[in-house]
Amino acid sequence: MTTTSTEANRAYFDKLASEYEAKPWQKAMSSMITRNIHERRDWLGLADNPEQKEVRLLDYACGTGLVSRALWPRITASRGIDLSTNMVQVFNSRAESAGLTPEQMNAVQGDLLSKEEQPHLSDPSLFNFDVAAVGLGFHHFEDVIEATKQLAARLKPGGVFFIVDFVNDREREVPHGWQGVITINGFNESGMRKLFEEAGLVDFGFSVFDEQAEMYFNDQKQLRTVFMAKGMRPLQ
Ligand SMILES: C[S@@+](CC[C@H](N)C(=O)[O-])C[C@H]1O[C@@H](n2cnc3c(N)ncnc32)[C@H](O)[C@@H]1O
Repeated sequence: MTTTSTEANRAYFDKLASEYEAKPWQKAMSSMITRNIHERRDWLGLADNPEQKEVRLLDYACGTGLVSRALWPRITASRGIDLSTNMVQVFNSRAESAGLTPEQMNAVQGDLLSKEEQPHLSDPSLFNFDVAAVGLGFHHFEDVIEATKQLAARLKPGGVFFIVDFVNDREREVPHGWQGVITINGFNESGMRKLFEEAGLVDFGFSVFDEQAEMYFNDQKQLRTVFMAKGMRPLQ
């Protein structure tokens, strides 16, 4: 069954894809988030990788590929999955323009939260990852508990899962006009810890970015605090 919020997200991001980073505030926010992920690569356990030892990322709700690009070349392969076909197209064309092969960076359309059969998401190449991540996707998901469990299950033992999202430092209500596209208006550390632990992840970590994200909803400026939460799939 496909829910209304899933359909609203698909329609919204299919329409936005070609202009996802077109406005100056969108560009500035992407740069800020990229920089902050980049600065936390050691914290995530992603060491410098001069010998290009294989490190595989599952970039879920990948959009145009911000997380994949922020971690490259400490990761050596990225598999993106996104609900929106148009976002997937932009992801793949940006990877190609950067001179990367599909073996190095490639995305497919898909929704791990859908009840509908999606045989392509059972392909073995979409399991056993060193890292799995969701950048700014959790506040769009219908079921964050199920998403965390599904993504944790796609890690190899010792693999790391992380998300980047907004702290719930404002009123919980979703801004007017965004109901359906945004399902949860931010998270806090204790909620994240519980979610990660319930998915069987250990070594929880939570890090708040020093810089805030400046965004515009219906032409109204909003400053949002951004965090990164991480957890590891136990070694056994
Ligand atoms: C704000 S964008 C973030 C994109 C990218 N990760 C980034 O950090 O720039 C949210 C993305 O989540 C995707 N999305 C929303 N619900 C999804 C779901 N159930 N499964 C997969 N992707 C989903 C949207 O299509 C969109 O590309």
